[in-house]
Amino acid sequence: MVKIAILGYGTIGSGVGQVLRENAALVEKRAGTPIEAKYILDLRDFLGDPEESKVVHDIDVILDDPEVRIVVECMGGLHPAYEYVRRCLEHRKSVVTSNKELVAAYGGELLDFAHRNELNYQFEASVGGGIPVIRAINSALTAENLEAVTGILNGTTNYILTRMKNEGLSYEEVLKDAQALGYAERDPSADVLGHDAGRKLSILSSLAFDVTVKYEDIRCEGITKVSQEDIRYATELGMAIKLLAKSRRVGQEVFARVGPSMVGPDHLLYNVTDVFNGILIRGNMVGDILLVGKGAGSLPTASAVVADVIDEAKHLHRSVWGDWKDERVHLADFEDLSCRFFVRLAGDLTQARREEAEEVFKAERFVTIPGLEEFGFVTAPIRGRDLHALIDSRKDVLSRYRIDEA
Ligand code: HSE
Repeated sequence: MVKIAILGYGTIGSGVGQVLRENAALVEKRAGTPIEAKYILDLRDFLGDPEESKVVHDIDVILDDPEVRIVVECMGGLHPAYEYVRRCLEHRKSVVTSNKELVAAYGGELLDFAHRNELNYQFEASVGGGIPVIRAINSALTAENLEAVTGILNGTTNYILTRMKNEGLSYEEVLKDAQALGYAERDPSADVLGHDAGRKLSILSSLAFDVTVKYEDIRCEGITKVSQEDIRYATELGMAIKLLAKSRRVGQEVFARVGPSMVGPDHLLYNVTDVFNGILIRGNMVGDILLVGKGAGSLPTASAVVADVIDEAKHLHRSVWGDWKDERVHLADFEDLSCRFFVRLAGDLTQARREEAEEVFKAERFVTIPGLEEFGFVTAPIRGRDLHALIDSRKDVLSRYRIDEA
């Protein structure tokens, strides 16, 4: 029998309790031993809950109980989650977490500490909910030199962009509706400004490239400026606008960015719509791998947590985890990378303006929308910084998007 403790009994913590209860027999079979939650740490009491008798309010009860071998941290936030996790490891308890904020901020340090003490710190549920992306990078793809990670890592923004495209609604209209339906938080800023996707990208990139990619170093742009007009142009071009989180390694350099991008129908993430997440990983031998699924929700996320717990139970006091060097990488500037861009300019598409766009931007494909006194075009591949040099001083630029071709 392996006893565990759950820190935080909210959406995910209570889901972990439910998965352990409902799937107890198969969890036991796969772990080779029964797994039971002995304690639940929370500020609240949960009268009438099946786990009511296990609730404690003092972390020391858990730390001082040698029977507890694994601690599940579902508290969220940085503090006191960091201090609690650190103390659990110091008390020789392996830790499983769903807390992306904590993993993004302290993952390298906590992994290093766990390794040196023959413990584990696992965080499958911190990215993509129930999608097994961390395990894919850490085990199935270990023969690969990973070259790029491109993801739709935020379900809320994918849902908003999908409805804007399908129903012709504005960003504000869909956001309001999504909040009413409970898909978007009352304060949606972490999602819509790209910070949530940025944290998840920092975790995936750190594992994929065996360095520490700090979330603070990633340039994040959200979806708040995506207009219905931009979406109409994308549709006219046969493309879609997605909030992409992308990192690449080129030689010794690592590039990372979160921002709205256009993708064509051949792009593997084009059909990842609604609340789904999609993660495209490129290895030098295997080529492209695509993982798709629901990136949030109590039971999908709790399922990933319990899978980590089963793994821990099978490897008590033997470190099994993969690479993530606790060494902050200096990110190269994404603007040094070349790609095609979509650019929208105010004013009618006259012959003179067409020729100017062809001359200045190497425009290859033009598009107009009836009733709008403006036009858009797709450029030849150009470095981001070179495009900015061309557009920054112009007053007629309405918007511009990278076109992702990975
Ligand atoms: N707010 C996140 C999303 C939840 O919309 O994807 C999962 O991290």
